[in-house]
Amino acid sequence: MPSRRFPDGFLWGTSTSSFQVEMGRGEPASGSDWWTWVHDEENIRRGNASGAFPEQGPGFWELYRQDLERARRELGNNAVRLSMDWARIFPKPTIDAPVRVERDENGDVMGVEVSDATMRPLKALADPAAVARYRDIFSTANKLGLTVFLTLYHWPLPSGLHDPIACRDNLAGATRRGWLDQQTVVEYAKYAAFAAATFGDLVDLYATINEAPMVCKYGYLHDRVHFPPGLNDVGLFLTAFKNLAIAHGLGYEQVKTWDTSSATGRGPAEVGVVTVMEQYDPHDPSNELDRRAAEFNRYLWNEWNLNAVIKGDYDMNLDGAIDPGERRPHQAKGCDFIGADYYLRETVRHKAKGGDPRFDYEFTPSRGRTSDTGWEIHPEGLGNVLQWAFRNYRRPLYVTENGVADAGDKLRVEYLTSHIEQVHKAIEGGTPVRGYFYWSLIDNYSWFSGYRSKFGLFSVDVNTKERRPTNGVAAYRDIATRNSLSE
Ligand code: BGC
Repeated sequence: MPSRRFPDGFLWGTSTSSFQVEMGRGEPASGSDWWTWVHDEENIRRGNASGAFPEQGPGFWELYRQDLERARRELGNNAVRLSMDWARIFPKPTIDAPVRVERDENGDVMGVEVSDATMRPLKALADPAAVARYRDIFSTANKLGLTVFLTLYHWPLPSGLHDPIACRDNLAGATRRGWLDQQTVVEYAKYAAFAAATFGDLVDLYATINEAPMVCKYGYLHDRVHFPPGLNDVGLFLTAFKNLAIAHGLGYEQVKTWDTSSATGRGPAEVGVVTVMEQYDPHDPSNELDRRAAEFNRYLWNEWNLNAVIKGDYDMNLDGAIDPGERRPHQAKGCDFIGADYYLRETVRHKAKGGDPRFDYEFTPSRGRTSDTGWEIHPEGLGNVLQWAFRNYRRPLYVTENGVADAGDKLRVEYLTSHIEQVHKAIEGGTPVRGYFYWSLIDNYSWFSGYRSKFGLFSVDVNTKERRPTNGVAAYRDIATRNSLSE
């Protein structure tokens, strides 16, 4: 049997995001669109939000030392993926910090020049307590031997840039329109520059944006589950999708410019994008319409964003072809790696709905094994998406999220092991995967579904904040410490 070792230096970690784990102890982070969204009574009444609140969360903001120690000692990890709350760093608007903005022939922002004259007001606007806390979180991780993988944007936008309720109720009259406006892209570039300048000595590995497809799908296209601002319009969806891809490029440039010091000897800054990739299969493989619907989903959710970010191909009419006006190489500033978030297989069936025919599909209930969230467990899909991404884009990869909602603690060990097996196979087949981050270190606040889904390797009692190891802990520690799967 071939060795099932992983390459030297492979990163083993877990993933979390600020909004989902920080609150529950200390000052709540109430300055974002997501905060407003989940507290809005109308949203709760309509079922767009669960009525559970992030301030009942696991309290990482104060308990980070013990959680990071767990990651190191109990999981044997050498890395950890975290995000920052943009609105904690900048509770006040940054719009007045001066920058030179360059636009392309479409009127889209293509360059933001952040200078020392920008950085001075940004430093004055940043909240010193939040900066100090994040510095302590990152340096605690580093001292423990955990390489920090920092996500700059994992969904909450500062309220000064997005009023999701005004957008939901009357978009035409709304002034703070989040990712629909390129002002947000410009402010994101400033935030990325500031983050790189401020935390660069502690961080070498950055993700610009987490899962742009989900932000756009659930915020602008979906008729069932809602993210802020809960709209359903293909045109708005594409505008947000485009702006998030442009933001990646500008964030990439800023981090490369402003982070000049190396924390771990890897070099100052490796910067990539994190996107969600799932396996999409037709409900009935012999049915041409089902096959087309599955392929459209694969293209839209797995591929569109990466084509824009890496190649500068912005397929604005979603026809699968890149017309001359959709070729925008000047927006593809760089992407050192692809972060793949993989959870499940979707089975897709054609269904006429009477609207835009491209969206004539539905997801059908899985015929395989499912998790508490009803997601189909399909480890082979992870191998498939990793290999596909490398074939298409020739970038190294990290698995930045992969995990299972499993309150009964029956599925986690097998889920973890079988997916890591697929990572190993992909590496053996020549796909350069550099790390694996399990979602999640601890149970956390799962956006519109609140605390129902239990993704943590450590379960959390929301009342006492007590952490308890699940069966996944010993299994993951065994793999991570030996850098190898058992024979
Ligand atoms: C997101 C996480 C989320 C997880 C499980 C991912 O798509 O990045 O924030 O908690 O899915 O639902």
